[in-house]
Amino acid sequence: MATARGQFSSKIGFILAAAGSAVGLGNLVAFPVMASKNGGAAFLIIYLLFVAFICYPVMLAEIAMGRRSKRNPVGAFGMISGGQRRWRLTGLLAIITPFMIAVLYSVITVWLVVYLKELAGGGLERLAVEGTFNEIVAAPSLFGYALLLLTGVFLILAGGVKGGIERLARVLMPTLAVMLVALTAFVLTLDGATAGIAYYLVPDFGKMTLATVNGALSQAFFSLSLGMGILITYGSYFSRQDSIPSSARMVALMDTSIAFFAGLLILPAIFAFDPNTNTDDLSTSSVGLIFSFLPKIFLSMQATVGYLGATVVAIAFFMLVFFAALTSLVSIIEIPIAYFIDEFKLSRKRAVCLQAALLALFTIPATMSFGMADALTQFSHYGGVDKSFFDLIYDLFYETILPLVGFTVCLFAAYRWKMSGLSAELVIGDDRYQGSLLQRYMNFALGTVIPAVLFAVFVSTVLHIYF
Ligand code: PFF
Repeated sequence: MATARGQFSSKIGFILAAAGSAVGLGNLVAFPVMASKNGGAAFLIIYLLFVAFICYPVMLAEIAMGRRSKRNPVGAFGMISGGQRRWRLTGLLAIITPFMIAVLYSVITVWLVVYLKELAGGGLERLAVEGTFNEIVAAPSLFGYALLLLTGVFLILAGGVKGGIERLARVLMPTLAVMLVALTAFVLTLDGATAGIAYYLVPDFGKMTLATVNGALSQAFFSLSLGMGILITYGSYFSRQDSIPSSARMVALMDTSIAFFAGLLILPAIFAFDPNTNTDDLSTSSVGLIFSFLPKIFLSMQATVGYLGATVVAIAFFMLVFFAALTSLVSIIEIPIAYFIDEFKLSRKRAVCLQAALLALFTIPATMSFGMADALTQFSHYGGVDKSFFDLIYDLFYETILPLVGFTVCLFAAYRWKMSGLSAELVIGDDRYQGSLLQRYMNFALGTVIPAVLFAVFVSTVLHIYF
């Protein structure tokens, strides 16, 4: 038997932890930029439809698989399929993918730590200078910060589900919400902020293209931490007394609201800085926006609130992003740990140490992919461009395999577990699910429309990146 498995203390414990996973860089940075470039409220509407009709059913399926099996993704696919090898192998994708994405997330979160340290030392001006970012990401001192961050993360994970993951989310998620609202309120008082609101909220359906629609779905899917085995694993820590549909609804609502509010913060800030901003010029990458562009905006606030005031605003913002990244990072790193505990009967402590060693093995070269070592910076070449080791992991796991895992979850739930099995699990803790409109929609869509849409995203991503 496996060592006693962890469990969240309550429904709210699960909701906060899952929202902690969902709310991350995607919400705070990628979403606002995407929305503003792709038709504002028009994009929001499409995004909301995708969350409700595509992502929410997949969330239910993942959480139900976890709770039914009380296992990590490999164990969940294995147990529910009656031990079929090919399904266990499919589950392995949902262990390897979060592992590799944890590598990327670790690298970026370390940069956030460096930025916070730099800001605390009065270095806002330096961060706003072109080229500083490239210096920071190529400095060997990153390894010291990485050690610090990852030691903290693994100590949290060693604390277990309730004492580590849930406790962190209980502190950080409300803090994050309060900080976000306070920062947004401040930014909205700046001159010129209303131009940003208009840009964000006035719908422009003319900007919607097929690529936009594809982007909206990928963003929604990624933002809710789907296709990562995370909700399967968190579902395995979820009590049988509580309702999966209502908890998942809360998580989706929180995640989407925070993304929406982040737009109300970032776009008005950008427009207050330069009222003539053309959002087409905003960096397409979240990384470029957050680390190179936003420091300039914060620095420009010194005209209104002085250098110290501008530094405080910048620290508050980067703290916010750091908290969001930290709870997401903890959630992804937990997946292989759960796998080691369940499948290899390791104690949590040993599983945490093993995962720490493996993660370090990949995070070191990924950190060196930004100019520290040429062989890693120009690691590969495809799609007509040079790609670093980091880019390769990003394209392969983040962009490509993520929708594929979502696709396999749908097929597995609909055709191997069968809708009757899934329904029986979703009714536990929620009598109202039986016979509901939601159940009828799930029965119709989970084996048809939803996997078809996810497969289309997978194909279009592959064509776009590799050819
Ligand atoms: N959902 C997070 C975000 O929107 O930034 C990112 C994320 C976290 C993706 C954890 C995947 C994951 F496993």
